[in-house]
Amino acid sequence: MTVHFIGAGPGAADLITIRGRDLIAASPVCLYAGSLVPEALLQHCPAGARIVNTASLSLDEIMAEIAAADKAGQDVARLHSGDLSVWSAMGEQLRRLRDMGIAYDVTPGVPSFAAAAAALGAELTLPGVAQSVVLTRTSGRATAMAESENLGAFAATGATLCIHLSIHILDKVIAELTPHYGADCPVAVVWRATWPDQRIVRATLETLETAIAGEMERTALIMVGRAIGAEDFAESRLYAGDYDRRYRPVGTHPRFPDSV
Ligand SMILES: C[S@@+](CC[C@H](N)C(=O)[O-])C[C@H]1O[C@@H](n2cnc3c(N)ncnc32)[C@H](O)[C@@H]1O
Repeated sequence: MTVHFIGAGPGAADLITIRGRDLIAASPVCLYAGSLVPEALLQHCPAGARIVNTASLSLDEIMAEIAAADKAGQDVARLHSGDLSVWSAMGEQLRRLRDMGIAYDVTPGVPSFAAAAAALGAELTLPGVAQSVVLTRTSGRATAMAESENLGAFAATGATLCIHLSIHILDKVIAELTPHYGADCPVAVVWRATWPDQRIVRATLETLETAIAGEMERTALIMVGRAIGAEDFAESRLYAGDYDRRYRPVGTHPRFPDSV
């Protein structure tokens, strides 16, 4: 018996991996985090599967479901939104499974920051503009942040920021970021990326609050940085015609003469 942790992707039901879909189809039990996992994915469950929405369950109750499946020798498909490496509460479940001696594996999913970047048609790492991406959030009721992980500290690096779980305190986010990026810095908010009701607002730090006009939906990413919507950036050297590299030797003395 194995518990398969599966990244369910950002919303659109066809943005799950083939491996994830096949594991759902092969597992007689499916536990899914119903607040953000699309119900359409449940159509992959085998006939007669036990399907449980864990949104209202405690960790103890979730582990009891898994223990019951283990006793019955039934594999479990455990679905969380996006990818499991960020804000999935997978870590605490894996620790319990290790204590219980139950096997597990992890199948990655499309994270919401990548879905939001795709919706914007944006590369978050543009040459000469930003070469780092910070996935972060602000403190919430359930999760405090270390003092050192404040938005200002990340903003000071000039990286592209993908700020999760924070649209409800947009005014504070803007106030913390503006001294570092400048009021004219491009920003985009993507609500429910890849869902049928996806919505995008592009603005600057200065104009954003007016532009979003009190939108209340909380499943949103705030994307900030000079790379968002930039047109004035250098082309990558890797593809420059005169750039000598392993797969495309150039000139009379290439660095890798025998590689092609
Ligand atoms: C508990 S976290 C889950 C993150 C998820 N594990 C991932 O890989 O993106 C939930 C937050 O992620 C962001 N989020 C998740 N899905 C989203 C989507 N489809 N569009 C925009 N933001 C999304 C929002 O900031 C939301 O409050």
